[in-house]
Amino acid sequence: MSTVTTTEPPVPTDPSSSAGPAGDAEESATYAVSRDRSAVLDALIDEHASEDPTRFRMLTGDRPTGPLHIGHYLASLRNRARLQDKGVETFVVIADYQVITDRDSVGEIGANVHGLVLDYLAAGLDPARTTIFTHSAVPALNQLMLPFLSLVTDAELRRNPTVKDELALSGGRPLSGLLLTYPVHQAADILFCHSRIVPVGRDQLPHLELTRAIARRFNTRYAAGQSVFPEPEALLSEVPLLLGTDGTKMSKSKGNVINLRDTADETAARIRAARTDSERRITFDPNGRPAVANLLTIAGLLLDESPEAVADRIGDGGAQGLKRVVTEAVNETLAEHRARRADLARDPAYVTSVLHEGNARACEVADRTLATVRAVMGMSY
Ligand code: TRP
Repeated sequence: MSTVTTTEPPVPTDPSSSAGPAGDAEESATYAVSRDRSAVLDALIDEHASEDPTRFRMLTGDRPTGPLHIGHYLASLRNRARLQDKGVETFVVIADYQVITDRDSVGEIGANVHGLVLDYLAAGLDPARTTIFTHSAVPALNQLMLPFLSLVTDAELRRNPTVKDELALSGGRPLSGLLLTYPVHQAADILFCHSRIVPVGRDQLPHLELTRAIARRFNTRYAAGQSVFPEPEALLSEVPLLLGTDGTKMSKSKGNVINLRDTADETAARIRAARTDSERRITFDPNGRPAVANLLTIAGLLLDESPEAVADRIGDGGAQGLKRVVTEAVNETLAEHRARRADLARDPAYVTSVLHEGNARACEVADRTLATVRAVMGMSY
């Protein structure tokens, strides 16, 4: 019987070759392969997850930099709960050490972590089946970073597209050592629990390629070819990139975000202020009318319809008709989530206990992995 690891796609890359124009072509080739492979993985999960949960063990995560918004909900949160319910063994890392890769302070870290747990639980992640934990509470995970760092070159890290983008956005501020190396830390997140599946957006694919390289190199260099770390695979989100309500990148500071925790009234006000245009006829035209198309995409994802179908239904209803449909779609779909979230928020001790239990479970797993790593490296004295 084939398994996830033996039916690997012929991914052609070592990340070391992804630079320049040739790198772009290669990036889209990798993307195409990952997309095809993701469809296969989805089918395999449907067929086999309940009988063999560890085969599809999954890890995903979020940086606790602020509240989760509708983009998170549509692109990842819903999907995590769906996979968990299919029987996939699930780990979710609240990546607190990743917060300080690109900023000077941790911000409201405690409240942000608490808020993430609330949204996970409200979205249907079940702490009995899903391990929710933070980096900072799992020392053995962090220690894996040391041997892993020995397996990558500084040139490879400097070529990482995410690191390069963040550097470009930093406006010339110096690049911290943690920013440069955080893809390796992310590899430790993924590998400490031997996860096989990593649901990600396209932007995270280079991190996954690096993780795969680290797994391979560890096995070859330090484990005499034994498979201490299986190579994980990306499960790509099919949700397109969603924009804020002004048609530009979602960003808390621009006030263009619909947060999961917002009230129905706040949501209505945010959508009322959304950027549209004055054409009465609503059409789905991502190039010509990006802001309108974005609202149609959000409504379509929530209503499980194509954006074109939503546009047809609104017809000549204009911006007002569009906003009414989007507001209803958001508020109705999120009503249950928001009610559950509000309920859970009344019991902060419970939320803390979920995190403590998840941290304890993650520590057990990480301790075992680190023990193996030390043993194969001849470092158990
Ligand atoms: N870098 C991811 C993000 O910014 C968060 C994250 C941290 C993650 N560790 C991970 C995602 C491991 C997948 C797997 O969204």
